[in-house]
Amino acid sequence: MPAFTPDQELDLLFNPDLIPASVKAELPADLHIRPLARSDYHRGHIQILSVLTSAPDPGLAGYQATFDAQRNIVNTYYTLVIVNKANDQVVAVGCVFIERKFLRNLGKVGHIEDIAVSKDMQGKKLGLRVIQALTGISEALGCYKTILNCSDDNIPFYKKCGYEKKENEMAKYNTAPLSGPSRASTPKL
Ligand code: ACO
Repeated sequence: MPAFTPDQELDLLFNPDLIPASVKAELPADLHIRPLARSDYHRGHIQILSVLTSAPDPGLAGYQATFDAQRNIVNTYYTLVIVNKANDQVVAVGCVFIERKFLRNLGKVGHIEDIAVSKDMQGKKLGLRVIQALTGISEALGCYKTILNCSDDNIPFYKKCGYEKKENEMAKYNTAPLSGPSRASTPKL
């Protein structure tokens, strides 16, 4: 079984000090919360996402290209993971990205996305810890609110995390065929 890799040996997405100490303190000793690492492709990150939605394997190069794209847009993407120290595998993930606005005195909004806890680890408060960590990051970065979309089934979970129902989500899916890798690159307009 692979040995646990400490933060200082990893290429991380953002400064781990941004994760609230209070959330780290609440985790059991066999688990570790940290920013996403460039090598988390090898720790089951993509497989965890499949509990949420379709998450086909993008391959290592595609994974790292998206990691680099998130990191190159500075001060915007904060994707984090919880790792099981026993096997160095990812067991929970989540992301908050920071939107910069012209209104509310150039206000910022944190958007929480892609929360997933591996099936065998659900119900152990890991989802709660991910949301607490992401909300803490969003608020520490000065966001005046943190928002997310979810199914009706998940409303009780987010209420437990301190969120309340506000307004509605609208969506329009692109019906044109999308090819995988091209979506990772930004077209020049
Ligand atoms: N219905 C009612 N209560 C719930 C539910 C639910 N569906 N899920 C969790 N809770 C409650 C728990 O019972 C617990 O309550 P307690 O404090 O009274 O004991 C509290 O919420 C915290 O639960 P956790 O143990 O932290 O939940 P978990 O670690 O299982 O994570 C999650 C919840 C993220 C929804 C997980 O079950 C999961 O990965 N589901 C599949 C993927 C998914 O739906 N992700 C969210 C998509 S929305 C988005 O990404 C913005």
